[in-house]
Formats: sequence, C-alpha cells, structure tokens
Amino acid sequence: MTTALVPGSFDPPTNGHIDVISRCAPIFDRVVVGIVINPSKKPMFTPDERREMLIETCQWDNLEVAGFEGLLVDFAREVQADVIVKGLRAMGDFDYELQLAQMNRHLSGIETMFVATRPDLGYLSSSLIKEVASFGGSVDELVPAVVAKALARKLRS
Ligand code: PNS
Repeated sequence: MTTALVPGSFDPPTNGHIDVISRCAPIFDRVVVGIVINPSKKPMFTPDERREMLIETCQWDNLEVAGFEGLLVDFAREVQADVIVKGLRAMGDFDYELQLAQMNRHLSGIETMFVATRPDLGYLSSSLIKEVASFGGSVDELVPAVVAKALARKLRS
C-alpha cells in the first residue's frame, strides 16, 4: 500500500491545490493531505476551517485530511507516508521546492515527487487569491465554491 502525503498551508485551498490532490488520488492507494499549523503565522482561516473546506471539496474514498505541527518529515513518519507530493507551478517554485525536497530527504530519507500544475492554474496562489478577494475582485472561478463563500464571509466580518 503506497501512501502519498500532500502538504501545504491551504490558506485557503485553491483550484490549483485541488487539481494536484485530484491527480494523486488515482495514483496512490492512500492520500493524506497535511495542513501545516504554524503558530508563528497568522493565517486567515483556522486549521479546522481549512480542513472542512478540503474535506468538502475532495471527496475521494482513499483521501484523509489532517493538520500537523512541527516538521513535515515527522508527520510523514506518523502517517506512514512513502512519498511527499508537491505541485510545481513555474521556475519560481523550483529553487525553493528543490531545497525542501533535499532537506526532507536528508532528514528522513523520504522522497518528494512533483506534479506539474495545469498551465491554466499555474498563476494561482493562496496569497494572491486573498489579496484579490480583499479588494473586491472575483475569485469564483479560481477556488472551490465552498472557499469562495468562506472568503466572502470572512471578509465581511
Ligand atoms: O503551502 P505552502 O505554504 O507552500 O507549504 C509549505 C510546507 C507546509 C510544505 C512547508 O512549510 C513545510 O514543510 N512546513 C513544515 C515545517 C518543516 O518541515 N520545515 C522544514 C522543511 S525542509
């Protein structure tokens, strides 16, 4: 049984994230989506809110969603992941992702595999989505419906 761990902040999940997760689901026996909980950062959405949005959007039978604190490699060991899967957008992602992949392999021996983002989603990032939404721009086509609603609610409050 091969388990893939797809980690990220998912603050909030975008269609780019969902694309990567949806492409892992048929390849691996089990996919764990790991939401990083970083106490030193101030996310827009709580870990529970991010988890709810992911669960509502990603309804594959072999998929689990969980939050984690601390090192990704420790969480990978905890969930018995065989591989970490990351989405790669453009060259801008590459240097940093390569560094993380090499550090994670150094720390625990776990391999990282990259999924090339769909070209039409390659410009999406959670921070850009939040910025556009905060200035009243429409992000309805760029995030799952549940996320668009949650963003609107959050920005109203
Ligand atoms: O969606 P993001 O913010 O690009 O995800 C980054 C993430 C969560 C994959 C990365 O920050 C991470 O692995 N954090 C956990 C802490 C850790 O293990 N740091 C060392 C990485 S080599």
